[in-house]
Amino acid sequence: MEHLRVLLHQEQIARRVAEIGGQITRDFEGEAVVLIGVLKGATIFLADLARQIKLDATFDFVAVSSYGSSRQHSGQSKLVKDVDHSLEGKNVVLVEDILDTGLTLTFLKNQLLRHKPKSLKIAALLDKVSRRVQPIAVDYIGFEIPDEFVVGYGLDLAERFRNLSDICILETDESS
Ligand code: IMP
Ligand code: MG
Repeated sequence: MEHLRVLLHQEQIARRVAEIGGQITRDFEGEAVVLIGVLKGATIFLADLARQIKLDATFDFVAVSSYGSSRQHSGQSKLVKDVDHSLEGKNVVLVEDILDTGLTLTFLKNQLLRHKPKSLKIAALLDKVSRRVQPIAVDYIGFEIPDEFVVGYGLDLAERFRNLSDICILETDESS
């Protein structure tokens, strides 16, 4: 049996996303930014965050394979989709759903730096601090969360649950 327990309500998420959007707006005042979403988990966060950024902004997307359908990082990341447009000389904000081991964001940061952006910042909605394997500095964090598997607001388990409005802890009960 699967149980979903709400960890972060949609109103709480919306308030925090608005704060981060405000912060990005202030940090890049008078400049343009490229928001790069990590497919597919970051799409809902990116869509909400983008509307809270009052700047000249464009989107692009990257995709990495690392998790497959399991809950564990395989230890290896592969860029499955690169950005469509050059990032040279641009202010880039990499937008990710969750920072777990840190392997994916470290890999992506290095990939994006090869494009020679003017600046590169990272925004992650969730941070499972206790799971970090690879230390990485993140500029904008939504919420620090405990080491629980979460779904909703873009986050999935084997592609399911991305459409939930709240972020929920997925509990699986083997006995029933
Ligand atoms: P990292 O490379 O271990 O930091 O993993 C980051 C990626 O792992 C995210 O992009 C998610 O796709 C996935 N991930 C990590 N924890 C969770 C979770 O609790 N729920 C859903 N996906 C997760
Ligand atoms: Mg993901």
